[in-house]
Amino acid sequence: MKVYAFETLPSTNDFLKTLDPEEDVAAVAEEQTGGRGSKGRSFSSAKGGVYLSLLRIRPCKAEESFRIVVNASLAVVHTLAAFGVDARIKWPNDVFADGKKISGMLIENVFEGDEVARSIIGIGLNVNNALPAELASVATSVNLLTGKTYDPKTVAATLLYQLGRDFSREEYVGKSFILGKEIRVLRGEETVSGVCEGFTEDGRLILSGNRVFSAGEVSVR
Ligand code: BTN
Repeated sequence: MKVYAFETLPSTNDFLKTLDPEEDVAAVAEEQTGGRGSKGRSFSSAKGGVYLSLLRIRPCKAEESFRIVVNASLAVVHTLAAFGVDARIKWPNDVFADGKKISGMLIENVFEGDEVARSIIGIGLNVNNALPAELASVATSVNLLTGKTYDPKTVAATLLYQLGRDFSREEYVGKSFILGKEIRVLRGEETVSGVCEGFTEDGRLILSGNRVFSAGEVSVR
């Protein structure tokens, strides 16, 4: 697979959108100047972290798109394990370690008929990068957790390898950070509380009281 490597880019997801490849392709940057997070937020992307996007061509049927989330989240969990960090997934695709966020993901799918025609899976992983002071209580990094400094290129290569694997939905559930916990789901202006009872086949969150969510921001109480 072709991998584009940059010292700096505005956003690896946006770079891949300028291409029209026939085959899967990836982009990695040492830093991003306009890193994008979910819900239109920005994503702090200082040197020392891993900022990687993978464009996959026709990865699956539209109805199976949760597989993309399962595979990418577990690729991050396995990558972190290889560098000594025990991590869990906060639905749908944030990765947490020691109760704080260590990796975020922005998946941008283009649907055509009943297929996912293109999927851009953008992953930011805190390795040795400095985190903004305002994130100190909510974010962490491999360096903060292990006291070790790893070459981001080595971590990126491990992540790319793991992104080529297929993982099971059962493993995703087993690595959940929120399953069985009292959580809050924020949806627009509304916040609902309950216990996370699991996930539907297509990846929606099941909250106690038979409430099902396809989107929303989860926090653990
Ligand atoms: C989030 O936690 O809100 C998602 C963050 C996603 C960040 C990654 S870094 C690589 C790729 N390029 C971007 O601009 N965003 C994603």
